[in-house]
Amino acid sequence: MAKEKTQYTCTDCGGITAKWLGKCPSCNAWNTLIETAVDSAGPAKNRYAGMAALAPASEVAVLCDIEAQDVARTPTGQEELDRVLGGGMVQGGVVLIGGDPGIGKSTLILQAMDGLQRTGKRTLYVTGEESAAQVALRSRRLGLDHSQVQVLAETQLEKVLATADKFQPDVMVMDSIQTVYSDQLTSAPGSVAQVRECAAHLTRMAKATGTAVVLVGHVTKEGALAGPRVLEHMVDTVLYFEGDTHSTYRLVRAIKNRFGAVNEIGVFAMTEKGLKGVSNPSAIFLSQHAEPVPGSCVLVTLEGTRPMLVEIQALVDTGGPSPRRLSVGLDRDRLAMLLAVLHRHAGVACMDQDVFVNAVGGVRISEPAADLAVLLSIQSSLRGKPLPQGFIAFGEVGLAGEVRPAPRGQERLKEAAKLGFTVAIIPKANAPKKPIPGMTVHAVERVDEAIGLVRELGRA
Ligand code: TYD
Ligand code: MG
Repeated sequence: MAKEKTQYTCTDCGGITAKWLGKCPSCNAWNTLIETAVDSAGPAKNRYAGMAALAPASEVAVLCDIEAQDVARTPTGQEELDRVLGGGMVQGGVVLIGGDPGIGKSTLILQAMDGLQRTGKRTLYVTGEESAAQVALRSRRLGLDHSQVQVLAETQLEKVLATADKFQPDVMVMDSIQTVYSDQLTSAPGSVAQVRECAAHLTRMAKATGTAVVLVGHVTKEGALAGPRVLEHMVDTVLYFEGDTHSTYRLVRAIKNRFGAVNEIGVFAMTEKGLKGVSNPSAIFLSQHAEPVPGSCVLVTLEGTRPMLVEIQALVDTGGPSPRRLSVGLDRDRLAMLLAVLHRHAGVACMDQDVFVNAVGGVRISEPAADLAVLLSIQSSLRGKPLPQGFIAFGEVGLAGEVRPAPRGQERLKEAAKLGFTVAIIPKANAPKKPIPGMTVHAVERVDEAIGLVRELGRA
C-alpha cells in the first residue's frame, strides 16, 4: 500500500509545494495553500497532476450502454405553446419566456399553469410584478373561475426557494425574473448581477428537484432580454413573443430548445378571454386588399414546420440628401444589400429615394428566402405598378445577382395554391417536377430575370 505523505496545493491555481508557504510560488496568491495527501510516488511533477490528486476518480460509462431516456413531457393544454416547447413542459427543465411589456406573457403562462393544474400537476405561480389580487382578476377574465393554481406574491429569492422547498411544485413560474432579488447581493433587483444570481439559483433548484421552472423576462428596447444574454445559456429553452401589441396576433418563437426544434413557432390570437391558439396560421399575415396595390408582394415563408404567407410592403419615395432605409420585421443590413444588388444586377436604382419595408402583422422574418419578395415589392413601389393578382414569391438573392433555392419549396408552393394564389416566381432549383394545380410557376436563376418577368406579367 502506498504510504501517505503530505504536500500543499494552491486552491487558486492548483500549484504544489512540498512545504507550507504563506504565498503560492506559482500564482503569488496569499494564504491559498492547503494540505493535501500524496502517495509515495512523490510529489506530482506538474500542477495538472496535482489537480488530479484533489478529487477521487468518477465512474465512466460506454456511450452505447447508457440508457437513453426520453424526457417526460407534460402538455400544457395550450397546443401552440406545446408545439414550441417540443411537446410540453419537461421535468426539471427551465424555460425562459421573453417579450415586450403587455404582449401577453403573464396571460399565456397563467393559462398554461391552469392547464397543467388540471392534469393533476402541482403548480406554483410566483408573481413579483403584480399582487395576488391582480393575478386573480386576470384569471377571472380568462374564465378560470375555479383555478387551483397556487399563487405567491414574493420578490425575495430566499423566500421563494423556501416556499418551493416546502410546497414541492411540479411546475413553478417566476414572473418576472427582473423583480426577484437575493439578499446575498447588494445590487438592486433587475440588475445584471441579481438577474444572473437568481436565475442560477432557480435553475439549480429545477435540476435538483425535478421541478419545471418558467422564468418570465422583459425585453429591452433593442429587443434583447434585459440584463444578461447569459440567461439564455443557463436555461434549456428560450421562447420569445413576437408581434405587434396593437394587432391581434402573437407569435411565440423558440430560439433555443434543448428538448425540441428551434425556430418552431406558435401562433396565438389575443381575445377578450386570453390567448387562443391559431392552428392554421398561414393566411393571417396578409392584409386583404380588394385590388392588388403597388409595393405589396406576398412571401411564402417557412417558420418551423409550417409554411406561412406574409405580405411584404415597400414604400419607395423621393428622399432628401441622405435617403433613409428603414425596415420593420426584416433585417436592415440585408435591405441595404438587396438595394445594391437591385441596382447593380437589374439596373433598378433607388439611390435618391427613401425606402421603407415592412412585414405585415409585426412578424419578424429572418430567413433569406424573403429576399426575392422584398426586391419585387420595392420594384413594384418604385414603378407604381402592382404585382399581378394572386402573386407570390420566395428565394434567396446573392451578391452576384443569383437567385438561390429556399428549403422545402414544394411545400411553400402547395400552401400558396391552397390559399388561392395562382402565380409564383421562385428559384430555378425549387421548380416543381410535377405541375401544381391552379398555379403558374415561373422559375428564375437571376434577379434581372425576375424583374423582367414581373414587367412582362404586368403588361399581360
Ligand atoms: P399581459 O399578459 O399582462 O402581458 P405581459 O405579462 O407580457 O406584460 O397582457 C396584457 C395585455 O393583454 C393587456 O394589454 C390586456 C390584454 N389582454 C386581453 O386582451 N385579453 C385578456 O383576456 C387578457 C388577460 C389580457
Ligand atoms: Mg406580466
